[in-house]
Amino acid sequence: MKEQIEQIQKEALQSISDATDLKQLNDIRVKYLGKKGELTSVLRGMGGLSAEERPIIGALVNTCKEELEAKIQEKEKELEKLELEKRIANEQIDITLPSQKVKRGSKHPLNRVIEEVEDLFVSMGYDVVSGPELETDEYCFERLNLPKGHPARDMQDSFYITTEYLLRTQTSAVQARAMMANEEKSPLRVIVPGKTFRREDDATHSHQFNQVEGLVVDKNISLADLKGTLEVFMKKMLGQNTELRFRPSYFPFTEPSYEVDVTCFKCGGKGCNLCKQTGWIELLGSGIVHPNVLRMNGYDPDKYSGFAFGVGLDRLAMFKYGITDIRLLYQNDVRFLKQFDRKDEENEIKY
Ligand code: DAH
Repeated sequence: MKEQIEQIQKEALQSISDATDLKQLNDIRVKYLGKKGELTSVLRGMGGLSAEERPIIGALVNTCKEELEAKIQEKEKELEKLELEKRIANEQIDITLPSQKVKRGSKHPLNRVIEEVEDLFVSMGYDVVSGPELETDEYCFERLNLPKGHPARDMQDSFYITTEYLLRTQTSAVQARAMMANEEKSPLRVIVPGKTFRREDDATHSHQFNQVEGLVVDKNISLADLKGTLEVFMKKMLGQNTELRFRPSYFPFTEPSYEVDVTCFKCGGKGCNLCKQTGWIELLGSGIVHPNVLRMNGYDPDKYSGFAFGVGLDRLAMFKYGITDIRLLYQNDVRFLKQFDRKDEENEIKY
């Protein structure tokens, strides 16, 4: 029986050391130490032994069991370690591989233009201000020298919400707000980019569009200041070769008033289909702030003067980027928008 035990032990130790994974090791444990295992059946056979032999064999079986158990545990640790190492090796990430490209959105061309206008005017000491889109008749018209019943109100078909409130038809409404808010009448230099609304429903006009308003009020502000400012503005937005032409016009809140044309950037002024062979493109309205407007908004027109201008931002963006249909600006078609992924200069079209 002693030999039998030793034989079992030898075999068991061999298979423990040969085991290559935890599953095999567990099978070995069951085979030798389990309830129906080989050592257990040796113990069962002890009934036939003499009283002297029994404790000796019993002790032998127990040391054998303990030894096997200890070896199994040792091997188990070893295999667990190996398996962990294998898993870590398998799951290792190769950080030298190129990553997946993250798809980035792009800035909308209108926002690009707004940011460029803001940067330029902030660099010249202007504040960027805003006003409500739902405006009162008082600020949108009356305080701009357009009393109720004034014929010039016909120039802008308005969305009235009540008799008093309307969707603002022009960012000029914020001129009055800025003047009223400036209680100490310190030099005022503001630009107002924002949405405006008119009752238009033909193909070339949108009921909602964007404008940027400019207003400067101080002592001794003259037409020369307006001309210089607009020249810097237009050359920055449309290129240094751009020239400006001031045409007398009429706006109730300025006197004198001008519409400003710029040289056609497609043909450089020679005449083409874009400028209808005139060489010029009409871009903005401007003028010297009307004394009535100054007075109504808290300024003494004998002491102060100012200039103002209003530009359609949609038109400006279209000309700058060569966009031919205004509706493209509002449809959010990704194929259109992603053309503005790259740097501004790359987007500027060369005619
Ligand atoms: N508010 C005018 C419009 O929407 C544009 C305009 C003209 C603004 C003359 C001005 C200005 O500030 O002085 O048609």
